[in-house]
Amino acid sequence: MDRIDARAKVTGAARYSADHKLPGMVHGHLVTSTIARGRVVSMDLDAARAAGGVVEIYTPDHRPAFQGALTGLAAVFAETRPPLADREVHYHGQIVALVLAETVEQARDAAALIRVTYEAQPPNSSFEDAKEHAVSPPSVPGLPLGVPIKEPENVDIKAALAASEVTIERTYEIPPRHHSMMEPHAAVAVWQDGRLTIYSGTQGPAAHAMELSGVLGVEQADVHVISPYVGGGFGGKAFTWAPAMLAAAAARELGRPVKVVTGREQLFTVTGHRAASSQTFALGARRDGRLNAIEHATISQSLGEDPGYRTTPKYYAAPNVHISMKITPGLDLPTATIMRAPGDESGSFALECVMDELAEELGMDPIELRMRNYLESTLKGKLPYSSKHLDECYRVGAERFGWSRRGERPGAVTDGEWQVGMGMATAVLDAGRAPTTVRVAFRPNGTATVGNATSDAGTGMWTVMAMTGARALGLPADRIRPALGDSALPFAGSSDIYGAVGSAATATVTPAILTAAREAIAKLAEHAATAEGSPLRGADDVRYAEGRLTGGGKAVTFGELLTLTGTAEVGAQGTSADLDTTHAYASYAAHFCEVRVNRWTGEPLLSRFTTVVDAGAILNAKTARGQITGGVLFGLAAAMCEEGRVEGATGRISNANLADYLLPVNADTVEFDVHFLDHPDTRLSPTGARGIGELGTVGAAAAFANAVHNATGRRVRTLPITPDKLL
Ligand code: MOS
Repeated sequence: MDRIDARAKVTGAARYSADHKLPGMVHGHLVTSTIARGRVVSMDLDAARAAGGVVEIYTPDHRPAFQGALTGLAAVFAETRPPLADREVHYHGQIVALVLAETVEQARDAAALIRVTYEAQPPNSSFEDAKEHAVSPPSVPGLPLGVPIKEPENVDIKAALAASEVTIERTYEIPPRHHSMMEPHAAVAVWQDGRLTIYSGTQGPAAHAMELSGVLGVEQADVHVISPYVGGGFGGKAFTWAPAMLAAAAARELGRPVKVVTGREQLFTVTGHRAASSQTFALGARRDGRLNAIEHATISQSLGEDPGYRTTPKYYAAPNVHISMKITPGLDLPTATIMRAPGDESGSFALECVMDELAEELGMDPIELRMRNYLESTLKGKLPYSSKHLDECYRVGAERFGWSRRGERPGAVTDGEWQVGMGMATAVLDAGRAPTTVRVAFRPNGTATVGNATSDAGTGMWTVMAMTGARALGLPADRIRPALGDSALPFAGSSDIYGAVGSAATATVTPAILTAAREAIAKLAEHAATAEGSPLRGADDVRYAEGRLTGGGKAVTFGELLTLTGTAEVGAQGTSADLDTTHAYASYAAHFCEVRVNRWTGEPLLSRFTTVVDAGAILNAKTARGQITGGVLFGLAAAMCEEGRVEGATGRISNANLADYLLPVNADTVEFDVHFLDHPDTRLSPTGARGIGELGTVGAAAAFANAVHNATGRRVRTLPITPDKLL
């Protein structure tokens, strides 16, 4: 099914946060630091204050009130220090002022007139240097992104490696990356009678309301987040960042609506990014390819945001596994956060490259090596996987792609001045869901609403909610009115508060739609049997099917019924059941990549890509395909070009704009061959759908790197794989 929001989006009818214009609204412009470490000594605001239209200038010495800081998950994954908290500068591009003016031009103009004097110190902004002194992080119990870090008991990994017939150890380096979503973080805030309404693009409206309420010192129920359209999030809009906090706090102080739109360059520093990481794998195997030992050591900027170790326990069976992580705290760099497939993307790049390197060492086909180490149950706890068809992904993918034509010897296949290579990689992504609450209601105009406080950050949730509602009620999808992107809509208050994160929104929301639809149908039947004016009143055999009620030998559509009884709506909430924890859940894919590398320029071009996906039931093939191709390209971007560059001497991100921060464009891509296996995971939920949002990203860079190696014999272990590294 086409996206039901497609027309609104392409015609401009969809109103994103910054599209809201309120009477009396003031425009805010952020001013950011030009040093990475030190403090603000003074700020000359005279010229700015005298500039036309300026309403207020907030600085560390004169800031709007914040009563708290981010707590919970956000305290691990976002910036917990409220904006303008003090004069200290911790990174280049930190917010040091907010200028508010009658127009956006006036705000920008005045911001340019502010003179800041700093006491600057040489920054520690080099992850490269800091890696040498990485430390073990404090253990964070129950860290949601994976296993708590502790030394596994009874595993002498060095001895296990030493006892293996073949061992290899390799280190892979992954640069920082930025979400670079099309819609920047933007918020329009307005207060009325102590209640905040804020239009702010977010992946989790309810979590956003909770976090803002904590920061502002008001009740959660007094914060109303409205976010029906989100122009991309990728984890960058999972938590609350300074621009929304400042808009809300400034609007309260000024008693006027305030809009704050983050500038494109500012997005690179004030709203999170994926930290650089270094991933070292040591593998020990028997000559026949069976793994005996896996040692995985990750180094990253801080604990939560990119734990590459998350990958390792869910790929391959091995009797000895040791996973560790070190961090480089105190760097004068912008705050890192989660970004699409956090940990899984970086970890899978390293693991799926080192498996390729081991296969070469063993003289074994890379798929064969993976099949020899196929994991049937979780490494720890030995929980069986609910539904795993990764072997079929390999088989079908190899067939579709023509894997048998791969030259076993690197550099063996050429086409004129092009070296042609094929590579593959596995993608595994934990699949879960949270219980959530949905409200379904019938209306007199013959439509039904289906509401949940989730988000559609481009994922297709609007459409999937309409389709699932249609299926549950036996109605055409165009008679379903989904409602999402609003903190006032129902949610259960468990981890479903975060909305569209962790590739779990579809798996979370759709089973609750089925439950709520049953409840709503029961309410409707009761209404038909009892309400005054109902033609079915008094019937004891009322039944509902496909929008019609029958009973006592009569029939009526629900629209007619509600019109006759003069009822605005009849509906009910339903909450989905808890997840069955007797099994483990994951989505799978096998990626196959072909590249052509120019012999003279070193340019690696993507020429073909096949992905075969095992993600349970695919509810909407069209939006699902969009998720996978978008995800694959997101992962390939890391392989091909994407890299945040930090200047060592200044701590400045030197390519913080969409001209110098390279992303693949259409000319860099191919027509992706995406194939879905259809094995509904009915243990996970009655809709059988697992997550796909991040799956395509996982492993895609490794497939590219492995193809480049097959084409050229060159193994590039530092991303991105740019032509200079192939000369
Ligand atoms: Mo995703 S990084 O869980 O928003």
